Amino acid sequence: MNIKFTSDIDKKCGVKILGVYEGVKFSTFTQSFEKKLNGVISKSIKNSSFTGKFGEILDIFSDEIMLVGLGDLMKLDDKQLNKIGGIIGAHLLKIKKEKSILLLDNFDDDKNFAIAYGAILRTYSFDKYKTLNEKKVDLTFNIYSENPKKSEKDFNDVNAIADGVITTRNLANEPSNVLNTTAFVNEAKKLSKFGIKVDVVDEKRLKKLGANLILAVGSGSQNPPYIVTMQYTGNKKSKNTIALIGKGLCFDSGGICIKPSKGMDEMKSDMTGAATVVGIMESIAKRKMNINVTGVIGIAENMPDGASYKPGDVVKSLSGKTVEVLDTDAEGRLVLADCITYAVQKFKPQFMLDFATLTGAVMVALGEETTGIFSNDDNLVKMVKNASEITGEDVWQLPLGKKFADMIKSDIADVRNLGNPPRYAGSITAAEFLKFFVEDVPWVHFDIAGTAWSKGNDLAPKGMSGVCVALVNKLFENM
Ligand code: BES
Ligand code: ZN
Ligand code: ZN
Repeated sequence: MNIKFTSDIDKKCGVKILGVYEGVKFSTFTQSFEKKLNGVISKSIKNSSFTGKFGEILDIFSDEIMLVGLGDLMKLDDKQLNKIGGIIGAHLLKIKKEKSILLLDNFDDDKNFAIAYGAILRTYSFDKYKTLNEKKVDLTFNIYSENPKKSEKDFNDVNAIADGVITTRNLANEPSNVLNTTAFVNEAKKLSKFGIKVDVVDEKRLKKLGANLILAVGSGSQNPPYIVTMQYTGNKKSKNTIALIGKGLCFDSGGICIKPSKGMDEMKSDMTGAATVVGIMESIAKRKMNINVTGVIGIAENMPDGASYKPGDVVKSLSGKTVEVLDTDAEGRLVLADCITYAVQKFKPQFMLDFATLTGAVMVALGEETTGIFSNDDNLVKMVKNASEITGEDVWQLPLGKKFADMIKSDIADVRNLGNPPRYAGSITAAEFLKFFVEDVPWVHFDIAGTAWSKGNDLAPKGMSGVCVALVNKLFENM
């Protein structure tokens, strides 16, 4: 979707998008068009069931007008405005109107930006592999502004967040035959054009370092594993950095503990955590945020093979701690453990956030619309929850503690990668495993196995959601 700002209403801008509040109360723009068009708007409303309720739409095709119900003015917060944008965007796609101009009301820039953000995210589509499609609807969304130049410049921040979400979605939607481990690394390298320093730790260096957990996970694949670091220094005066860690399994077959074939295709997006980190890095760099952030992502493919790691193996991690592998399908925590150690040893972060499609169990607990969070720092959790309330990306904290840590004690090594009993508290024991490597660094773990994918809603079509990109942007803004 192309967003443009204009002060010219009468120019051929396409469909005029006008606002009506609940109880058929006209906004200023709507009033002026009603006058200009000699009552066409109220006549059309009388012949319909339109009342101005939030989210209602009425097309007046004869006059290229689209009426949008805004509900109660007092209730129009950012989340509602995002939604309205999404509803408008979806409708424009449906009626195939490529050009339109937003004239809902005399809203200030921030309100219009929130609407544009929703429209961009809802009209996203991943259609690069469709060759037989009818002509693609290429939307141009004009936004009325008295000072278009200034609005365009001020829109940069919101636009950068949308760009980050879209990058995350694009990466996560790619199939693993295209986006294999090396291809993912090449995508991450592209961040250097935004001034981010990208370093690729390849297999040879991983061996030298002793990052044996990620090496074990990648051992059955033709595609080599990597750890990639991405350093953004928006505050050159400070040596502090925040670390963002991401699980990047380009494909997770389960390995020797192979998954059932039903639904296995979804494991092409088991790299969504890493894609989330790449998306966040892009948006904060584009926003030129005054902070330092280091992304550390573990990229690998989990496959069954004669060279694969096996149940019962004991592997020495980068930290020196030993891990008994009881299930090769619990590979994400292994990759993350080495990434966490790498981040802690090399960058000594103030705090760490990790993102991972880590457990099916988080969906059993919280469903598909709530991200499970786990932490060793109450203050950080408070900040995450605040950000989540603003962006509408729902999170729920699940507990950690000794009784759960006891469930991952191994008989022969320092820790095991599977809870005992395996199916109990599955998301929590996975988080406890990570915590074993995090030690005392303030940290929040985001299990996005349920929320990475969207069934389709006002802000996302069906497919990968890009969850947490906006949330983390908001978290950094609020710091
Ligand atoms: N990538 C999966 C988790 C997952 C499942 C993500 C469904 C998205 C949708 C992860 O590597 C995995 O296989 N976890 C196992 C852990 C178990 C073996 C302890 C699981 O959740 O079953
Ligand atoms: Zn797995
Ligand atoms: Zn996995």
